[in-house]
Amino acid sequence: KEGKLWGGRFEESVTEAVEKFTESISYDKALYKHDIMGSKAHASMLAQQGLISTSDRDSILQGLDEIERQIKAGEFVWRTDREDVHMNIEATLTDMIGEPAKKLHTARSRNDQVQTDFRLWCRDAIDTIIGSIKCLQIALVKLVLKNEGLIIPGYTHLQRAQPVLLQHLLLAYVEQLERDAGRLLDCKVRLNFCPLGACALAGTGLPIDRFMTSDALKFAAPMRNSIDAVSDRDFVLEFLSANSITAIHLSRLGEEWVLWASEEFGFITPSDSVSTGSSIMPQKKNPDPMELVRGKSARVIGDLVTLLTLCKGLPLAYNRDLQEDKEPTFDSVKTIVGMLEVSAEFAQNITFNKERIQKALPAGHLDATTLADYLVNKQIPFRTSHDIVGRAVALCVSKNCQLQDLSLDELKSLSPVFDEDVYEYLGVENAIRKFCSYGSTGSACVASQVDYWVTKLEID
Ligand code: ARG
Repeated sequence: KEGKLWGGRFEESVTEAVEKFTESISYDKALYKHDIMGSKAHASMLAQQGLISTSDRDSILQGLDEIERQIKAGEFVWRTDREDVHMNIEATLTDMIGEPAKKLHTARSRNDQVQTDFRLWCRDAIDTIIGSIKCLQIALVKLVLKNEGLIIPGYTHLQRAQPVLLQHLLLAYVEQLERDAGRLLDCKVRLNFCPLGACALAGTGLPIDRFMTSDALKFAAPMRNSIDAVSDRDFVLEFLSANSITAIHLSRLGEEWVLWASEEFGFITPSDSVSTGSSIMPQKKNPDPMELVRGKSARVIGDLVTLLTLCKGLPLAYNRDLQEDKEPTFDSVKTIVGMLEVSAEFAQNITFNKERIQKALPAGHLDATTLADYLVNKQIPFRTSHDIVGRAVALCVSKNCQLQDLSLDELKSLSPVFDEDVYEYLGVENAIRKFCSYGSTGSACVASQVDYWVTKLEID
């Protein structure tokens, strides 16, 4: 059996159970592209600094290219006895090109190597997620464009509150997603510093150039402190926190659409292409994709909690525990991308049931707050207006009618300031027309929000 790359001081080989328990190759091979990038930058730097010859560098670079080709072609043999992606690639390079490969790990440890690979991987993953966020935003704005003018009940406490334009409500999700993307961009700025050259923890006495590798890998700069460079995983914590917040936003969207698709709400009809059936109840058509968006948010949060718990008790510097950072991160990224994609798919495949929504609108006294504002315009203090309208609503409840059904005499019996013009404030259409504050659900305000997003997301 082949000896380990670190085998010099050992007399016995590890047991099979230990080998199986400590390996990470089964999942960290996902880092291969970034590991090869890092090794190439490192080899070029070693040559520039005179630590290896240019011909050694050239064979290393060629060997790494060949390894990358083999991995992509599925020809590369990943070996559990070679532990992780770093040693699999280095050992195979040695099999392939011999002596020069043995110089590649000069002034490098797996501790700084894995951090470099992982930061590069997360940097790319962030770009992917931001792309998926943008696709969902576009799908939502297209849904907005299809539903101009549609008024729906707005809810607080899941009780009817005030009428809102559907466009306004959908754009609320677009705003949330924009902040989600912003958090990821912030995270990317902080993670984009290069740990390579920190070595095991203390740096090296060899004359390396950390600025050169940092530049080659498009990092902003080398990390200032070698101990920090190999120890911390706060960039992953921040990344998975950002994903968790996105997941929560999507979960709330999922909950809303599941409710809206129910018989009780009946606001939307998802197309068959985004619905699933029941194995026993022949009539069922379920919004499973959005239920699973809600459900999978639990995984994304779980991944974050795993990482937080992993890091909480670790002394400086590198500890093998940190190997456990990868699977939750991979899972978080895969899950959030799936959630974003399926939400966009769902958004493209629902129709709003205009008649059903319109029929539902008169109930719930959605115009009561607008009526209170009417009284404020007539110089009544708001607390007094609130009380007068409250009594008007009580009258409606006892008569089983809506505010607009009350006669002027009935209204005047509650306050003498009511006049004929009150009927311009009542009913949801009138109520919507009265909104004018910046960011409100008034038609003009919403139209300018729509314009903003159409331009920003370059929708034509
Ligand atoms: N597979 C390891 C990890 O993911 C690489 C670093 C191992 N370092 C060590 N000293 N054993 O963290």
